[in-house]
Amino acid sequence: MSKVLVTGGTGYIGSHTVVELINEGFEVVIVDNLSNSNVDVLDGIEKITGIRPAFENIDCVDYVAMSNMLDKHNDIESIIHFAASKAVGESVEKPLLYYRNNLVSLINILQLMPVYKIKNFVFSSSCTVYGQPDILPVTEDAPIKVALSPYGNTKQIGEEIIRDTIYANPSLYQSVILRYFNPIGAHASAEIGELPNGVPNNLLPFVTQTAIGIRKQLQVFGDDYNTPDGSCIRDYIHVVDLAKAHVVAVQRMMFGKSKENIEIFNLGTGRGLSVLEIIKSFEKVNEVKVPYKIVGRREGDIEKVWADPTYANEVLGWKATETVEETLRSAWAWELNLAKRSKL
Ligand code: UD1
Repeated sequence: MSKVLVTGGTGYIGSHTVVELINEGFEVVIVDNLSNSNVDVLDGIEKITGIRPAFENIDCVDYVAMSNMLDKHNDIESIIHFAASKAVGESVEKPLLYYRNNLVSLINILQLMPVYKIKNFVFSSSCTVYGQPDILPVTEDAPIKVALSPYGNTKQIGEEIIRDTIYANPSLYQSVILRYFNPIGAHASAEIGELPNGVPNNLLPFVTQTAIGIRKQLQVFGDDYNTPDGSCIRDYIHVVDLAKAHVVAVQRMMFGKSKENIEIFNLGTGRGLSVLEIIKSFEKVNEVKVPYKIVGRREGDIEKVWADPTYANEVLGWKATETVEETLRSAWAWELNLAKRSKL
């Protein structure tokens, strides 16, 4: 059984990926400092898969702790590195926290990999690297735009650090960089899902929390954009579809299928939906109201972006298959399950 280290494995995308890895027969070690997740996620993973992955409460910024962890789990073959801070607004206020968390952890892992003869590396990047693309849908060779936030910059710099490291040591590493569009939804079992700390920044958790009454009203940030209904457009992808791409990426490197020792793929559906379309669909498929009001634009928001996933479809051999209706249903089922749990 091949062993995979998943940093940030109790987080939103991480936990869904751990489930898909276990389903495919991988043995998983999770490293997470629980800064934006809860250890109970392990129960959810165990309920779904019947297996409780090894868990180490470690901060990837701590080189010595990471090294000790790798001494203990000395047969890891691949690493999927999710652990990072991701709140755009917070990153503007605390840039050094973001540069330290997101870049020192990456450097530590890249430094430790050859020491422990680990070659395969999957990196969580973001469509934020494209800024507002000139051409839509956006392909992987679209120009990288100046980052609008320290968070976005950490993703750009992270990609460069990986590229430079592999260029200098091509025999020691291979990497798949995955640029995510907007992951939403939850596992079909409703045992795991997105659970942001405090007031959500992202759209879907705010929608579900408003629908259930935790928040009074959703604010729609702007209806005066150059889009059909004036609200921003994104490529919303089911988190389980996204998770599956990580399994494919690991298998690709393990079985020597990569065309180059660093490959980059867009993970999106190819379908752009506006904020208002998301709200309307959510209300329709779940038969629930989402009170909202239109407010001013949010600083730093991109007007419209959606993926051209052709390269991932044809070369990686992965495709997003879930409908947006099913995705929105799963997000609501998760919120309902959370509410049920909090009453117990
Ligand atoms: C943001 C980041 C992206 C990052 C991702 C991870 C920017 C420009 N992008 O994505 O780099 O990878 O978060 O957290 O900051 N919206 C509302 N009301 C809300 C919340 C959101 O109208 O209460 C709208 C936003 O204006 C946007 C859309 O919903 O048009 C999606 O927002 P969000 O979920 O925050 O994702 P991004 O901004 O696309």
